[in-house]
Amino acid sequence: MSKPIETDIQEVREKNNVTWFNGAVSREKRENLHGHKGAVIWFTGLSASGKSTIAHHLERLLYEAGCSTYVFDGDNVRHGLCADLSFTPEHRSENIRRIGEMTKLFVDAGVIAVTAFISPYKEDRDSVRRLVGDASFLEIFVQCPPEVCAARDPKGLYERAQRGEIKEFTGVSAPYEEPADPDLTIHSSDEDADTAARRVYDLIKQRHIIGVSREAVEDHD
Ligand code: ADX
Repeated sequence: MSKPIETDIQEVREKNNVTWFNGAVSREKRENLHGHKGAVIWFTGLSASGKSTIAHHLERLLYEAGCSTYVFDGDNVRHGLCADLSFTPEHRSENIRRIGEMTKLFVDAGVIAVTAFISPYKEDRDSVRRLVGDASFLEIFVQCPPEVCAARDPKGLYERAQRGEIKEFTGVSAPYEEPADPDLTIHSSDEDADTAARRVYDLIKQRHIIGVSREAVEDHD
């Protein structure tokens, strides 16, 4: 069902008689307005590895530094945009393809899109990197041993998967392909979410997505 993410624009144009419209306000102008670049901060890891928690901590740091952000979370997106998709390999790829296309639009809008999807297949994540562009895409691997994720099990899903009640559950009965060369790895069983988020924030600065002069508020309680 999933289409290759690099679908040729010319091919789509000819098939559907559609034309890409470039408005008078460019990505660069929008980025200047926001005072930072558009980018995708892509968290990947097992369910309950801590992706969403770290992503939301990061969003708070970015927000306090005056950045325009939005967090896309696996469970939330599957309530709407991807509500028609299951967890077969094909549907997971389609899930990531749609999210990838959506984040590309956010990058064009000059926003920092922070995503928290298991995204278990390397090829799907690499496709999003190619789509969005290397300079605008940071892959953050939230590494956490499956037994630690299963012990956390905030939604009781690992237990149900181990009983066979949920099929194709990542880390139990479906694969997770670890990133070979992520931009950053977080060991979430050894590092708290706030420290991890600050490391990602520092990387975003190093990569010049936001200016070095921006400072997140130290104490944000
Ligand atoms: S992905 O594989 O397509 O990237 P996604 O991040 O959208 O997954 O959704 C993962 C969330 O869906 C998990 O955190 C969990 O709450 C829920 N879920 C339900 N069924 C499964 C399953 N079979 N495998 C993994 N997660 C599942």
